[in-house]
Amino acid sequence: MAKRKTIVDFRNMKAAGEKIVWLTGYDYMTAKYEERAGVDMILVGDSAGNVMHGYKDTYPVTMDEMISHAQAVRRGAPNTFCVGDMPFMSYQTSNEDAILNAGRFIKEADMDCIKLEGYTKPCLERVRAITDAGMVVIGHIGLTPQFAAQMGGNKAQGKSLEATKKLIQAAKDLEAAGCAMILVEGVPAVTGKAVHDAVSVPVLGIGAGSHMDGQLLIFADMVGLYDDFTPKFVKKYANVADEYIRAFTEYAADVRGGQFPDDAVHAYKIAAEEAEAIEAMLAEE
Ligand code: KIV
Repeated sequence: MAKRKTIVDFRNMKAAGEKIVWLTGYDYMTAKYEERAGVDMILVGDSAGNVMHGYKDTYPVTMDEMISHAQAVRRGAPNTFCVGDMPFMSYQTSNEDAILNAGRFIKEADMDCIKLEGYTKPCLERVRAITDAGMVVIGHIGLTPQFAAQMGGNKAQGKSLEATKKLIQAAKDLEAAGCAMILVEGVPAVTGKAVHDAVSVPVLGIGAGSHMDGQLLIFADMVGLYDDFTPKFVKKYANVADEYIRAFTEYAADVRGGQFPDDAVHAYKIAAEEAEAIEAMLAEE
């Protein structure tokens, strides 16, 4: 069984040019299969709001919901580096709230690290405060859904020289504030490369092109399970939703048609004399 990786392993992987494989996970079963597949990192993302709870965005997600998802993921993947994603209003309010909520991921769900969105001055302060409290932080820039209201929706970012310069500065500021890794989301490949090349910590991408130290995808997108919306950057490796629907439809037909359950196959065994006694009792009634 592979040993749980640490931030030192990820630095070494970057130095060796080995790509880091990252997927989101929100539940016990998925995390178990991700670990079996040898994924390097699991993000317990606040995308759980969309994918698992059916919210239209990530704003309503609470710390308690995130802790419950993180605990389930840890039970499924005890040997995988797991990241707890700080939901909206879990860190924006103060350094103290940020430290306490980041600490909940570590104490209550055995996460290895936390991730938070943004690079405003308060975000940089939160990164510093959480890092100084002894925890590992991943910064998240580019398309950051918790800033969707200010961005005019979840739109690709970094599409001009000016915007790219801002993201480069953001990455440098996050590194200086203590981020151990940086995630870049939803930018053109050339912008992703510019950000990647500006810092020395591992830079991972989701929809940020190939010039990254590793890649992240939302698991439910890449297995074809979440179909409310599929971003351009997703590659689908399976069509699990179709399989679910096929199985549910066949089950419904079997139940309605009396083909399921088949007592010869699916019923519990009973000693012949006990079965006969019960049948005799039924016949007397
Ligand atoms: O919550 C999440 O899954 C994320 C990724 C989309 C980057 O933050």
